[in-house]
Amino acid sequence: MDLPLLEARALVKSFSGVRALKGVSLSLRRGEVLAVIGENGAGKSTLMKILAGVEFADTGEIRIDGRTATIGSVHDALARGIALIHQELNLADNLDVAANIFLGREKLRFGLIDKARQRREARPLLDAVGLDTDPSVLVSSLSIGQQQLVEIAKALSVEARVLIMDEPTSSLSSQESRNLCRVIGDLRARGVSVVYISHRLSEVRALADRVTVLRDGANAGDLARDEITHDTMVQHMVGRDSSQFYPYEPRPPGAPVLEVAELRTPAHPMQRLSFTVHAGEIVGIAGLIGAGRTELLTTLFGVTPALGGSIRIAGIAVAPRSPRAAIAAGIALVPEDRKKQGVVLEMSVRDNLSLASLRRDQRHGLINRQRAGELGAEMIAALKIKTSDSRQPVQFLSGGNQQKVVLGKWLALRPRVLLLDEPTRGIDIGAKQEVYRLLEQLAREGVAVLYASSEMEEILGVSDRVLVMHEGRIAGELPRSELTEESIMHLATGSRVTTA
Ligand SMILES: Nc1ncnc2c1ncn2[C@@H]1O[C@H](COP(=O)(O)OP(=O)(O)OP(=O)(O)O)[C@@H](O)[C@H]1O
Ligand SMILES: [Mg+2]
Repeated sequence: MDLPLLEARALVKSFSGVRALKGVSLSLRRGEVLAVIGENGAGKSTLMKILAGVEFADTGEIRIDGRTATIGSVHDALARGIALIHQELNLADNLDVAANIFLGREKLRFGLIDKARQRREARPLLDAVGLDTDPSVLVSSLSIGQQQLVEIAKALSVEARVLIMDEPTSSLSSQESRNLCRVIGDLRARGVSVVYISHRLSEVRALADRVTVLRDGANAGDLARDEITHDTMVQHMVGRDSSQFYPYEPRPPGAPVLEVAELRTPAHPMQRLSFTVHAGEIVGIAGLIGAGRTELLTTLFGVTPALGGSIRIAGIAVAPRSPRAAIAAGIALVPEDRKKQGVVLEMSVRDNLSLASLRRDQRHGLINRQRAGELGAEMIAALKIKTSDSRQPVQFLSGGNQQKVVLGKWLALRPRVLLLDEPTRGIDIGAKQEVYRLLEQLAREGVAVLYASSEMEEILGVSDRVLVMHEGRIAGELPRSELTEESIMHLATGSRVTTA
């Protein structure tokens, strides 16, 4: 008998007039990995929240083991073995790793939390997700990637029959992602069913037994294992053919805009970084996790001021000791952890988009509301941000659309030097191309663009030149003509060194 373990039939869900789901169905069998894909705002997270008892459908039916079921709360869902790992991390920063894993299900001894036992029992769970961290360290001291693994360990601890992962790898390094794929394989072998949401189609191809595609809140097709190819997935998601590769057009570089000499960052004080980015150039920074890419960007932006060396913007020496000083000098940074540093969730889409630039340009402490509206509308159109109203709070946008708001906020600043850390993380394939088009347009207007990315296709696809970092230093510089996955990996792993 092969009854689906979990089934959703014709689910409808509206949020104050916005129809997020228009009658979506899904079925999940025992021990299978089902990928759910679709563009930003397609309804993936909403569907998963309903299955996990976080949200409730307006109409439709859920069946578990062939029987109609009501999932009235997260507790209900957990009791039936359904656990959800949210797209946005959900950990308590002020608690240690073990306490987060057992949050709400604390191990007690004489009525008190038995910390020692929690830490002991956390160990094998951390091992299962390949996280080599002491269970007693604070969650806030871990990288986003590591925090994501803690979330997964937490889900493992409830012994779920159905584990739903909403973009689990969007913040992980390729090493950590591979590790997670192994964990998922282990779960499947133990008969656990996994629902896996990702914008990384290569991962979906490697992992999924089946793919369900959503488009605009409705089903847009199911793909069996042997039908899962990059092209069929994209075709179903966007409803038309779309080329995998971004068309590259060379732009003539202008004068040097960002000149960095002997820069020393607090993360790697022994290394001296020197390079130049010209007007109209898009330069990628490649490297493995921990290579120092983020630290280089945050140092240039004054978050962690440099220990030595010099930075020149259009020939003028600057020494940003704060982001505010960096912005005044013409530098903007789209940060990696956008939720913490990027948007104010309670604030409207429009205000998030325009406030940074208006604050910089304000006269006599007055902010021009009309200009705010215009700027907001411009960016919503340019980035195709899916929102019902520009005055809608950002927290009600889908994950990918929140990312676009952060991007738009910094782009609206019109900086001379635009720094971006993983600019298209969590953004769907169509929107990625919008972002690349926008970066190109800015480059054509003379902006110097420097971006770090872990996505090989992105590094290969958009860069005029690539700096490859390894253990805090620039291991080499590759012009576009020498860009291949191999040449980058050689430098990134330290197996080859060029002097550029
Ligand atoms: N609480 C809410 N209030 C208002 N609208 C919402 C709310 N939650 C979701 N929506 C809307 O529902 C639609 C579907 O959002 P959802 O988060 O399910 O998309 P998604 O497929 O997960 O996208 P992404 O890939 O960007 O994460 C979006 O238009 C979103 O703005
Ligand atoms: Mg989502």
